[in-house]
Amino acid sequence: MRGGNPIRPSEITPEAVWQSRRQWLRQVATGSLALGLPWGARADEAAPEGPPLAGRPNPALSVDEPPNAWSDITTYNNFYEFGTGKADPSLNAGRMRLEPWQVRIDGALRRPVTLDMDALLRLAPLEERVYRLRCVEAWSMVIPWTGYSLSHLIKYVEPTADARYVVFTTDLQAEAMPGVRDGILDWPYTEGLRMDEAMHPLTLLTFGVYGRRLPAQNGAPLRVVVPWKYGFKSAKSLVHIRLQAEAPVSSWMRAAPREYGFYANVNPDVPHPRWSQATERRIGQSLFAPRIPTLPFNGYAEQVAGLYQGMDLRRNF
Ligand code: MTE
Repeated sequence: MRGGNPIRPSEITPEAVWQSRRQWLRQVATGSLALGLPWGARADEAAPEGPPLAGRPNPALSVDEPPNAWSDITTYNNFYEFGTGKADPSLNAGRMRLEPWQVRIDGALRRPVTLDMDALLRLAPLEERVYRLRCVEAWSMVIPWTGYSLSHLIKYVEPTADARYVVFTTDLQAEAMPGVRDGILDWPYTEGLRMDEAMHPLTLLTFGVYGRRLPAQNGAPLRVVVPWKYGFKSAKSLVHIRLQAEAPVSSWMRAAPREYGFYANVNPDVPHPRWSQATERRIGQSLFAPRIPTLPFNGYAEQVAGLYQGMDLRRNF
């Protein structure tokens, strides 16, 4: 832990994370911490908003880095259904209908179900986990999410031996989503994981951020978060989860197969065809802050590299 804060961010609730972040910023402002700290945010920054959603902190699966401000996390977004500008999701996603919400889970499993939000929230104990999010566009954030491992839901539906891949489909509400008229992607937004990736404890079925229910722009009411992969794998506002034998073709793979592969593991050694992936810009830092070296698997190599043993990660990008 940098500075004099005795509490590790990973040991406390997101609400307390926010409080300690404020305190930390105040210390920065008064010069009581060493100079060179990256966080350029203001000590009077906005507090988290929305219905509370508590979860037990899981320090073992959290990174020990100060989280981004609530305002960074909720106003600098990618949610192309609402436009391609970073501010578009926070400006437009409020029009999305969030209730009632149901998720259909079917395919290669013994117990096909349609679950509402109450049932989903009750399925396993909620945890708070601070994850790095590395976008394919070479920026990153640190985000305190609330959710539980997707593996709980997958076990609940009793997969069969044919369940080798998981496909996620985002809701499509054309009248509320100005971005879907642009035709950048084939809507609805779909993504996929191999079964062992989906079952990995780090893969989070996510319902909240900073101890609050997810804001619409962050993928309300539920999304997946896969922290060792580029952010586009973390599909938002899920309505359908399908287990199947065949490898799926995601929206981004279909749109630009040379640029976006199925695996999309964060990899500083494999550049995007149009830019380097070796470094990243941490949102919220001053414009003069040096870029951060990107880590293999976004810093989660110890936990996940084993999933890809023997695979050529240049070809399987
Ligand atoms: N999910 C949907 N449905 N539509 C999207 O455009 N963008 C992805 C991912 N999930 C996207 C999506 C990308 S590129 C990133 S980086 C993350 O969401 C951003 O999540 P955040 O806005 O909560 O930080």
